[in-house]
Amino acid sequence: MSSTRALIVAIDGPSGAGKGTVARAVASRLGYRHIDTGAMYRAVAWKARHQRVDVADEAAVAAIGERAIFDLDDGRVAIDGTDVAKAIRTPEIDAAATAVARHPSVRRVLVARQRAYGADGGIVMEGRDIGTVVFPDADVKIYLDASPEERARRRAADPAHATGTTGRQLSEVATALAERDRNDSTRATSPLMIADDAVVVDTTGVPVERVIDRVLELVEKRIRM
Ligand code: DC
Repeated sequence: MSSTRALIVAIDGPSGAGKGTVARAVASRLGYRHIDTGAMYRAVAWKARHQRVDVADEAAVAAIGERAIFDLDDGRVAIDGTDVAKAIRTPEIDAAATAVARHPSVRRVLVARQRAYGADGGIVMEGRDIGTVVFPDADVKIYLDASPEERARRRAADPAHATGTTGRQLSEVATALAERDRNDSTRATSPLMIADDAVVVDTTGVPVERVIDRVLELVEKRIRM
């Protein structure tokens, strides 16, 4: 390696595009930290429900996000000392997190915390607005995509999302996914968008190892620049 500069790698894209698997593997190969920002929105939504706070109450939800102590390293998802890694992958939290993520003040609070995680570089951050809003100057920006059918299939087969989904039909998963995509792409604040300088990688029918190698190639190229 010609440089040891610790880069910021932004990975955005819709649900089921493979961001989690790819971001985790790329971070591990580079020895970088991996942060799943979707898990932050989910954990805040979980905490709101747990405290019987209405997810429509923007100020109350933002206060939860501001005070929260997150532990997001090495695949852990904990908020204020409670392990919620499993509890946040349910259809209820899918919907609650989408509602929480619409609030501008919640986004402001969580984006500030995401920027702090990446302040020293050496990070692979995945989400919806990492290359557009959180780190518009990220060293490498990837937008992962896949056909809606493939994304629904992957989501239905993902054991991490199995809680409470037993017996859910693929068509139900596809409908719920399409609804969330619509919400994430049409919301007023930081909608899911492709950054002008992002490299779009379509993962439909592509083995995940190939996608990981492609992203690592882009990072290596950037390191050599
Ligand atoms: O990636 P995910 O499904 O775990 O994300 C949960 C919700 O949070 C989803 O509705 C998209 C939203 N989100 C967001 O708005 N911005 C991010 N950076 C990450 C997730």
